[in-house]
Amino acid sequence: MVDLFEKCSQGKSARAKQAIEEGWYPYFIAIESGADTTVTINGQEKIMIGSNNYLGLTQDDRVKKAAKDAIDKFGSGCTGSRFLNGTLTIHEELEERLADFMHMQSALVFSTGFQTNQGTISTLVGRKDLVVGDAENHASIVDGTRLAFGRSLKYRHNDMEDLDDLLSRNGVSGGVLIVTDGVFSMGGDIANLPELIKVAEKHGARIMVDDAHSIGVLGKTGAGTAEYYDVIDDVDLVMGTFSKSFASLGGFIAGREEVIRHIKHTARALIFSASPPPSAVATVLACLTILQQEPERLEKLWHNYHKMKKGYTELGFNTGNSETPIIPIIIGEDEKTFEFWRLLFENGVVCNPVISPAVPPGMGLLRTSYMATHTDEELDRVLDTFEKVGRTIGII
Ligand SMILES: Cc1ncc(COP(=O)(O)O)c(C=O)c1O
Repeated sequence: MVDLFEKCSQGKSARAKQAIEEGWYPYFIAIESGADTTVTINGQEKIMIGSNNYLGLTQDDRVKKAAKDAIDKFGSGCTGSRFLNGTLTIHEELEERLADFMHMQSALVFSTGFQTNQGTISTLVGRKDLVVGDAENHASIVDGTRLAFGRSLKYRHNDMEDLDDLLSRNGVSGGVLIVTDGVFSMGGDIANLPELIKVAEKHGARIMVDDAHSIGVLGKTGAGTAEYYDVIDDVDLVMGTFSKSFASLGGFIAGREEVIRHIKHTARALIFSASPPPSAVATVLACLTILQQEPERLEKLWHNYHKMKKGYTELGFNTGNSETPIIPIIIGEDEKTFEFWRLLFENGVVCNPVISPAVPPGMGLLRTSYMATHTDEELDRVLDTFEKVGRTIGII
């Protein structure tokens, strides 16, 4: 027998301790100000290019007022799950607004995006069923498939031939669910939905798209990946989060009425967890209204994306296959990635270093992401800093 806690002083946590002691630990950094285009850390202002705040609504006065008004009307929390005492009229109002916005029959609000994926997949994929997912899907999808009683398989990233092949080789007696991120959270590339739909039709499979990074980003109204490709009627389920463009916390699943009713009455992540508090729900309602009334925010977000993608490319950085406001800067070795991150941080720019196992070994990257509210001046400063650090490190 070994001590259960032995692992706690080895591996990842030992490396984290060492990095903290050496003063270059890049995670769990406490921000002293609110989430915005600039943040204050250790009393110093830095430009934030490491958030998921695509529409920049976290500091919008209308959004903050809606959250405060909801606290005045409903109080601070719900103290129970949606199933029992935790459903408020604003949860239902939000579900109706989301169903309309997503052009789906019905929507169901969960307390986090993570739980939405976990609860939905694990309840839909029964013993005889098969769930197939992209190799770069988010961890919450992976965990949902692990919890499901049915079998799970992975296809190569965004490779529809591999998906087709996998489904041809693996027969099932039950049903099949294909799950993919709409926008991939590290690479910023977009799922090949048109081809995925053809494969799903061929094999009689259902499709679920995780639009965590696509809502408020892709499509002419910001309704996500299916709207972007004009294939809304061909997607069965769309999942979204409130923790990114909607400046809050929570998630939802949208689809056909009977499917949503089934999830509502069987998903353990919904039934056995307290519902999102009134302020979080009211925040989303306010963000949705702003998104619908101010399409220029989407335009500004895309202006910022194009400016940065062009800027990095001209400087000679490798931005992988990014097609959205998530732009990875591929560095390579872990040490170089951390060193690059540290120099950026010291020069007033905050982003996220990502190493294996989140990306393949030797493919360490800096995940940068952009907001509609970043100014051209802020973005120019970011590019200047990348150029300076890139030359110091010898990446460009
Ligand atoms: C693709 C994707 N799906 C799901 C989630 C989980 O969402 P949340 O953070 O709202 O729980 C995330 C968040 O990181 C994500 O990036």
